[in-house]
Amino acid sequence: LVTAGPTYEPIDPVRFIGNHSSGKMGIALARELQQRGADVTLVLGPVRQEVNPEGLTLKKVTTAAEMYEAALAAFEEADLAIMAAAVADYSPLQKATEKIKKKEENLAIELGKTKDILKSLGGQKRTGQVLVGFALETNNEKENALDKLARKNADLIVLNSMNDPGAGFGHDTNKITIFDKSGQEFAFGTRHKNEVAKDIVDTIIRLYYA
Ligand code: CTP
Repeated sequence: LVTAGPTYEPIDPVRFIGNHSSGKMGIALARELQQRGADVTLVLGPVRQEVNPEGLTLKKVTTAAEMYEAALAAFEEADLAIMAAAVADYSPLQKATEKIKKKEENLAIELGKTKDILKSLGGQKRTGQVLVGFALETNNEKENALDKLARKNADLIVLNSMNDPGAGFGHDTNKITIFDKSGQEFAFGTRHKNEVAKDIVDTIIRLYYA
């Protein structure tokens, strides 16, 4: 199971809260796993890139709530789950049924927390299921990544730093460090996301399936 891309949280029929995730990292991971012979379910948020559904189960979703439902359903039968999606942490509590008109000088939109998919899967993980999360941090990177690993009961966390040029959102390249629960750390140089996907899959296989 791989989640990828952003989520869009509707404000009214024509507006949403989203983010700049291109989905490239998660799509590259799904392809890499597919090429290694895995049966892959890709739960994909709204992205520009066309994904050829041949050879994988593609579930297209829009909101964090839809991604949660699709990921939970697919996790049941999954051996490995990689949560590469940039899921909205908050979503508007009310979706206006009609387009919001420009009347008031200020407009407040109340947001509520979305369900944390990675944390939910971590909570119901069975022995033998491997769970991998991503972290995008701007400060105290290692500390925050390790905290996320523990808090969400993941087996591995892939850190991409916003401080590295050529890494993260929208770029074709990424620079990652993988942390595991025992405190091991695997650092890689800036590489194309297809190569980064290979590094991640190689690391998972070496640690859990070799
Ligand atoms: N994630 C998820 N569901 C959410 C939010 C995040 O599955 N609703 C997953 C992402 O796919 C990614 C990891 O959790 O694998 C990233 O977590 P992040 O949002 O950075 O962590 P938070 O706990 O929200 O911490 P922060 O305060 O840094 O936002």
